[in-house]
Amino acid sequence: MELYIDTANIDEIRQAHDMGVLDGVTTNPSLIAKEGVKYASRLEEICKVVSGPVSAEVIATDYAGMMKEGIEHSKIAPQIVVKLPCTLDGLKACRSFSDQGIKTNLTLCFQSLQALMVAKAGAFLVSPFIGRLDDIGQDGMALIREIRQVYDNYGLRTKVLAASVRHTNHLLQCALAGADVATCPFSVIKSSMIHPLTDSGIKKFLEDYRKAFG
Ligand code: E4P
Repeated sequence: MELYIDTANIDEIRQAHDMGVLDGVTTNPSLIAKEGVKYASRLEEICKVVSGPVSAEVIATDYAGMMKEGIEHSKIAPQIVVKLPCTLDGLKACRSFSDQGIKTNLTLCFQSLQALMVAKAGAFLVSPFIGRLDDIGQDGMALIREIRQVYDNYGLRTKVLAASVRHTNHLLQCALAGADVATCPFSVIKSSMIHPLTDSGIKKFLEDYRKAFG
C-alpha cells in the first residue's frame, strides 16, 4: 500500500520524506488555511521535497471555475494531481482533465456509486473519507471494502485512496482491505512505527549489556 501524508505543513512533509516511506501528499483548503500561506507557493515548496503525486484541491464549485483553477495548479509541477469534489460538476471536470492527460483525485467520496462514476470518468484517485463516516455513526472501512470490490469486479484502474484516516487502526484496516493508498496525518505515520515493547526491549538489552561489560 502506498502512503501519502495529509498535510500542508512543510516541516512534517520533510520529516515524513526523510523517514523514507512517503509516496505522495494530499492537501485541502482547510489544511492550507491552517498554515496561513498562499496555495500556489506552498504547492511549489512541497513539489521540491516530494517527487510522488501531490493533490491540489480546487476552491471553485462550478465546472468552468474548476477547469480554470485545476489548469493553474497543474502548471506548478508535473506531479500535481487536481483534486475535485465528488459532485456533478466535479465529474464533468474529471472527464475533461482525464481527456487532457491531467491526473485527478476525486475527493469527499461517501458512497460506492460515486466511486464507480468517477472511475468511469477517468479519475486517477478516489478519496473515500473513513473518519468522517465513523463520526456520523457509519462504518467508514466498509466503504473502502465495497469500493475495492466494485473496482475489482470490473478491472477499474482508479486507485482507492483511503482518506480521513484518524488513527493507526484505520491505517492497518486499510491495508487489510486492499486500499491502494492511505493518506494520513503525520502523527499516524509516526505512531505506526512505535510500540512500547520495542522501547522496553531496547532498554533491557542495554541494561544487560552494561551490567556485563560496564
Ligand atoms: C484527504 O485528502 C483529506 O484532506 C483528508 O483526509 C480529510 O481528513 P479529515 O476528515 O480528518 O479532515
